Amino acid sequence: MKNFKRYTVTAALPYVNGPKHIGHLAGAYLPADIYVRYLRLQKRDVVFICGSDELGTAITMQALKEKISPRELVDKYHALSQDCFAKLGISFDIYHRTTEKLHFDTAQEFFLDFYNKGLFEEKLTEQYYDEETNSFLADRYIQGTCPNCGSDKAFGDQCESCGKSLDPTDLIHPISVVTGNIPVKKETKNWYFKLGDYEPWLTEWLVEGKKGQWKTNTYGQAKSWIDGGLQARSMTRDGDWGVPVPIENADGKILYVWFDAPIGYISATKQWAMDKGVSWEPYWKDANTKLVHFVGKDNIVFHCIIFPIMLKAAGGYILPEDVPANEFLNLEGQKMSTSRRWSLDMFEYLEALPDKVDELRYALISNLPENKDADFSWKDFQLKVNSELVAIVGNMVNRVFVLTHKFYEGKVPNAAECSQLKEFILERKSKVSAAIENYSFREALVEAILLARHGNKILTEKEPWKVVKANPHEAGVVLYDCFQIIANFAILIEPFLPNTARVLWEKLNMQCEFSWDRIGDLQMVPVGHIIQDSFYLFSKMEDDVIQKQIDYLYAKTHKEEIMENQATEKQEEKLISFDDFSKMDIRIGTILTAERVEGTDKLMKLSVDLGSEVRTIVSGIAHVFNVDDVVNKRVQVLANLAPRKIKGIESKGMILFADNVEGLAFVSPLGDVPNGAGVK
Ligand code: 2FM
Ligand code: ZN
Repeated sequence: MKNFKRYTVTAALPYVNGPKHIGHLAGAYLPADIYVRYLRLQKRDVVFICGSDELGTAITMQALKEKISPRELVDKYHALSQDCFAKLGISFDIYHRTTEKLHFDTAQEFFLDFYNKGLFEEKLTEQYYDEETNSFLADRYIQGTCPNCGSDKAFGDQCESCGKSLDPTDLIHPISVVTGNIPVKKETKNWYFKLGDYEPWLTEWLVEGKKGQWKTNTYGQAKSWIDGGLQARSMTRDGDWGVPVPIENADGKILYVWFDAPIGYISATKQWAMDKGVSWEPYWKDANTKLVHFVGKDNIVFHCIIFPIMLKAAGGYILPEDVPANEFLNLEGQKMSTSRRWSLDMFEYLEALPDKVDELRYALISNLPENKDADFSWKDFQLKVNSELVAIVGNMVNRVFVLTHKFYEGKVPNAAECSQLKEFILERKSKVSAAIENYSFREALVEAILLARHGNKILTEKEPWKVVKANPHEAGVVLYDCFQIIANFAILIEPFLPNTARVLWEKLNMQCEFSWDRIGDLQMVPVGHIIQDSFYLFSKMEDDVIQKQIDYLYAKTHKEEIMENQATEKQEEKLISFDDFSKMDIRIGTILTAERVEGTDKLMKLSVDLGSEVRTIVSGIAHVFNVDDVVNKRVQVLANLAPRKIKGIESKGMILFADNVEGLAFVSPLGDVPNGAGVK
């Protein structure tokens, strides 16, 4: 393995569109922190970069929802995220912001460089435009009916109900989320990065070069993208909350957030270097620097394909040596969801259990979603704290301190060094190192804890509290060994549980250097050394405390559901004018034929007799009715709804249904009403 001179370690810049939850922590920040703390303990030259991703539609959408400006929103959540990370011991060297001028300048330099090198192609495309706000609508700003499942809450980029990715023009009855208006299509120009030109290079560097090296999830996802062929991708957007495109005739254009965000790692490094009075360039341009990006699995493509292409295109930059991406962390068996409020936010945890930071770190690390999705549950958290941290680590340390005060006046007793113990500690050290360097942090933690287990085992087997009366020297040897175990354990556990390490070091009254090199030293705590009073390193998590957290989680989700229902009801209560009503041309008709639309679950193609004409209408009813149930049914039709192409079929109008318990009911006229009769 190459021996690197320095390390640039990044953790995905989180969007500041809301509080971040423990899934984010387990996805990228905690693993990155372990890695970096381990490197620092080895006195390696390392910079740990992170910051807030403050631009793009994730931000403007949320600002709209919260009825505050994007600036207010990012200020609020930037401060919250930064504070939570600090309290959870995530030891970034800098926590920057993509709204800083330095970042704008850096991102614009990249764009301009690519522009001058001819790496973009300009393309005119039709995009939805809101005539009331005079602005183009980003994909997320358009909502409509999903052509696949019929959900009426699909977004322009994806239907969250069936998961299908969409293009805004696929939506049936699109509306602008901003104003509720029907958007119009308008031509707009954007700059597309010709990613395809880098395919041969990417095949060599990644597909061939990283095989067997990168984690299978990361490699597999990146490779399948490359195998699918790389299309030119637009690196600009219409909008104003972003980095302005730095060329002429680009008014109202901003950089795509995924173009500028990874450059945020570089601008953050620049700021850190400036503050420190060193040069940033070796951290990004020297071949002896190891660049590692810690991300969640939803960020793989950007860090393995798009950003490396950008670095390659810029020239002179190093490329990521590794992108250890984690899968997702579920909560109590369910996927975490910010909108459903099914999450354990970092700030909520810190408010509820502010002095239990290492306990959370421990529970998360021992359950990191390294190769597959994992689950956090409060009961499991309780079990881990009580049966591992309290019963093994805390108990061992407490027994050693208590016995030393009781029988040896609080001084480390005289003893001989034990070579077997040294071997055991050195084995733990090398196994923890190997696992961390392989990004297997769960395994590394298990190896580190083995040392504490070993201390417990020695105490239980040798029973120094019994031996001490007949043979104080023999009992002293046991305690001496245990002190060396505790001191070595403090260093070994620091990357995972930094507060625990600090407390142990303080309670031991240690003065010597705290470094990885010291692990294996069996004279670290010298004979006669005075220790502090005995103490409990961890305390038991009681049932009522855990139950309170579980109740809070369910209550929070339930409250959100109620509020959502109220919001929907309120929307439904919205009043319209008579003019609005009279714009609607509702007519009576009869369904003549019906057939299911292939490849969909909900859509049915109907021909409807409206008296003077027969209309084709596509309706989302196939999940409720059979074809035979609808033929010959009398219906009410909104006849002047703008025609829409749905799954290639032109649909002219909409049939009205009433909601009932089964899903839908026909709204048919009573009595003898001819087809085509108007409804007033
Ligand atoms: O998924 C996210 O939260 C993105 N803001 C991550 C960006 S990582 C990097 F490119 F900055
Ligand atoms: Zn759908």
